[in-house]
Amino acid sequence: MTALPPDARPRVLIPADQIAARVKELGAEIGRDYQGRPLRLVGVLKGAWIFLADLIRAINHHDLSVDFLGVATYGNAAQTSGEVRVTKDLDQSIEGVDVLLVEDILDTGVTFYFLLNALQNRKPKSLRTVTLLDKASRRIRPVHADYVGFSIPDDFVIGYGLDYAQRYRELSDVCVLKV
Ligand code: IMP
Ligand code: MG
Repeated sequence: MTALPPDARPRVLIPADQIAARVKELGAEIGRDYQGRPLRLVGVLKGAWIFLADLIRAINHHDLSVDFLGVATYGNAAQTSGEVRVTKDLDQSIEGVDVLLVEDILDTGVTFYFLLNALQNRKPKSLRTVTLLDKASRRIRPVHADYVGFSIPDDFVIGYGLDYAQRYRELSDVCVLKV
């Protein structure tokens, strides 16, 4: 485990076994909903990569494909700048494709709102969203995810792909970082 700053107090919020169980449920639900239809999972880098890796193996479905979008919303702090920057575009067209956007966390909704508009403009056949974590109390944009892993309180979290200043993504549990 990476050493935390001396003034940081990490606390396990969602242990790895609970994450694994919930991801299995989400995968089963998504597999049922898209039965018989090809599905493109679009992961939002970098936070969603670990979640996507587990989720895709939990979806019982024969026709899945994957693409990634890179966005940056946060600087080196636990505070949003409110600005969304695309750091990597999709490799493949999504026109006429059933798309599932895979996010790590839905916070203010600024990133989701931006991404939903950007993807909708490319005329997918359908567009749904899954987020591992949802901080509904923080929303400033009117967005929700179609599939939600866990609703969590307004605490800054790290682990299972989520970072603080690009660190702690490797933690197996979702932890609260109190600095
Ligand atoms: P939003 O635009 O405010 O909804 O923020 C979405 C993005 O901010 C997420 O995809 C994360 O990358 C990042 N983020 C929001 N809250 C947290 C957190 O508690 N820990 C780590 N990253 C977060
Ligand atoms: Mg993210």
